[in-house]
Amino acid sequence: MEQKILQIKESALSEIEKVSSSKELEEVKNKYLSRSSELNNLKKGLKDLDVSLRPKIGALTNEVSKLLEEKIQIKYDEFYKEELNKKLASEKIDVTLDGTFNPRGKVHPITATINEIVEIFEHLGFSLIENKLSPEVEVEKYNFDLLNVPKEHPARDVQDTYYCNAAPNVVLRSHTSNAQVRQMLSSRPPVKIVSPGRVYRNESVSARKNNFFHQVEGLYVDKGVTFAHLKGVLNEFIRLYFGSARPTRFRNSFFPFTEPSAEIDVQCIVCHGKGCSTCSGTGWLEILGSGMVDPNVLRDVGIDPDVYSGFAFGMGVERLAMLKYAIDDIRLFFNNDERFLKQF
Ligand code: PHE
Repeated sequence: MEQKILQIKESALSEIEKVSSSKELEEVKNKYLSRSSELNNLKKGLKDLDVSLRPKIGALTNEVSKLLEEKIQIKYDEFYKEELNKKLASEKIDVTLDGTFNPRGKVHPITATINEIVEIFEHLGFSLIENKLSPEVEVEKYNFDLLNVPKEHPARDVQDTYYCNAAPNVVLRSHTSNAQVRQMLSSRPPVKIVSPGRVYRNESVSARKNNFFHQVEGLYVDKGVTFAHLKGVLNEFIRLYFGSARPTRFRNSFFPFTEPSAEIDVQCIVCHGKGCSTCSGTGWLEILGSGMVDPNVLRDVGIDPDVYSGFAFGMGVERLAMLKYAIDDIRLFFNNDERFLKQF
């Protein structure tokens, strides 16, 4: 018995000596000191021994376990220090090194302009409607039919509108005016909303035109809304957007969904009205189309035009940004050149 205990002690000590990591040490500790270890089993068997032998063997097993525990603890402390030192060395920070530069992202100038426009209209009592109310991929019904655009209207021509090959009557919306129809179908007057988004037209790309761009649509329908309200709101918008009054002109125009209709031009910021390539020599840039909602449109969405009237507008976001920041080429917004984007 005694012999056996001494053997265990010897082999445990030599194994403790040989371990090379705290993990291995843990294993050795389990092997020799756990509940199911040989030594513990011997302790459990003491009661079956001859009474005269019990004190001596008992004392010996205790002595050996104590010794092993101490040795293991010493070894464990060594590993702990060693491993800590290694960790400290590897995580050491050299405060004399140069820092790494993390460039900050910025809001795109088009997004920033949309936010600014929407904020002004919110200030004027309009609410921003959720984007899902005016999808970019739209059926002709909302892009044209319910806007009183006749079937044979040239705007429907594939030269202007992108039609979807995969499904009949599906287009990339050519304006944000689909938001008007969808809003009037989903809520009753008073309606006073703005809805920004991207629109698509099959145009040849130039400094003035891109085949996709952004608009902010606005709609105000209530009892007694007149053209004077339209003029008042849009003039106030221009004053707030440009920070002061700028030369503008209301020009008589035509849209199938408004009657009467007007376009607003702002004096070209590049040439100050003299005429340049940005404004095709006219000295003016059109920023929006607008007008009184056509009674046919109201009737088709179930609003009585004898009771209600309204005005609508759709403004070109890129144009507004170009005028404010004196940008002379619309394509700059879309080719993601950091030298351009960084300036905002
Ligand atoms: N949808 C027209 C366009 O894109 C603009 C417009 C909107 C005109 C609302 C009148 C009323 O040209």
